Amino acid sequence: LDNGLALTPPMGWLHWERFMCNTDCRSDPDNCISEKLFMEMADIMATEGWLDAGYEYVCIDDCWPSAKRDARGRLQADPERFPSGIKALADYVHARGLKLGIYSDVGPTTCAGYPASYGSYELDARTFAEWGVDLLKFDGCNLQNISVLVEGYTNMSIALNGTGRPMVYSCEWPLYSWGEYIKPNYTQVRRYCNQWRNSADVEDSWESVRSLADWAANHQSLIVPVAGPGGWNDPDMLVIGNFGLSHSQQVTQMALWAIMAAPLIMSNDLRNLDGFSRNVLLNPHAIAVNQDPLGRQGTLVAKLKNNVDMWRRELAGGGMAVALVNRNQIGGPVLVNVSLSAWGLLGARVARACTPWCAVQVALPPGDATFLRLQGQAVRVAVNPTGAVLFTVRPHGGLPQPMVG
Ligand code: DGJ
Repeated sequence: LDNGLALTPPMGWLHWERFMCNTDCRSDPDNCISEKLFMEMADIMATEGWLDAGYEYVCIDDCWPSAKRDARGRLQADPERFPSGIKALADYVHARGLKLGIYSDVGPTTCAGYPASYGSYELDARTFAEWGVDLLKFDGCNLQNISVLVEGYTNMSIALNGTGRPMVYSCEWPLYSWGEYIKPNYTQVRRYCNQWRNSADVEDSWESVRSLADWAANHQSLIVPVAGPGGWNDPDMLVIGNFGLSHSQQVTQMALWAIMAAPLIMSNDLRNLDGFSRNVLLNPHAIAVNQDPLGRQGTLVAKLKNNVDMWRRELAGGGMAVALVNRNQIGGPVLVNVSLSAWGLLGARVARACTPWCAVQVALPPGDATFLRLQGQAVRVAVNPTGAVLFTVRPHGGLPQPMVG
């Protein structure tokens, strides 16, 4: 969507995977969907390095509205859980340099049964703009008729644009289209949306993360060409820092989401995150790959022996990012030699850029250094079972003499 937004994949936090539709503020006040939850996340994002790293959108998902629209027909927040209202929450978030995301649905009710936007697209877009909202996630549950899908998503896009307030438009249009066995028109989706979900809801498990990456790989010829500045394929939230992923699997999610130019929207509890997860999520090299200004989504390029997948993404300035993913769930780390003389596999531009040498930076797992490699030498890495190694290969311009060895 050409609205000047999302020129690189949006980064932020969204409540759904971790907090779901917990509305029980009486017995679970710290984890229920309430203004307190978003204010606490905003405080942490602004003061503990998240905003500085690029995570800027604090986003509300389902279960925020009151069961009834107000007397003038407008959506309103649940008065008990959001006593100050969404406008006050937007002000709070903005005062910390962050942006606020909200959620609605193209049908008459959300997936969880709260009032949604069908028949009120313009009114709701205006309401969100008046509140100072910066992003809308638009779900696709409860359509009476499949034609509402295309109409509704495009009409809401036009309505948002009509408000004059810049708002990132996050769609689930392709996902619900696939659900009806209709192949989405991705050119149209890109014209109206800044990001779009294609595949199932992420869950807190390796199986889920693996299958979302597999979905992208299996459909890459269809979905990769449409991604770029202004519009991104969204394989759903980062679940790093929750309960289901091992350290190696957290590295894999971050590495693949970086390669796939995916929105980096965390769903975790920032109040309670261990150092490892924090370092993965804040890894500057992985974020730089994700936010690369060229905006080209990476692809699966080879299935190497030993059950290792090789992904690559072209970077601005003639470099490449490479992710190696060990799909084995048995055994120890697999040693992989990626020969720089075989950069043919990685494209002629990088091969040229690596003559006579180039800089190899291991981004993930965290803690590894930069190597300078002569063309012809191999990059040798150990990849843990269900883990990944993410590295970049950049042209030699401006760097000191190569150290051989
Ligand atoms: C389905 C979406 O795909 C999820 O991301 C989440 O928004 C839920 N609906 C909320 O009900």
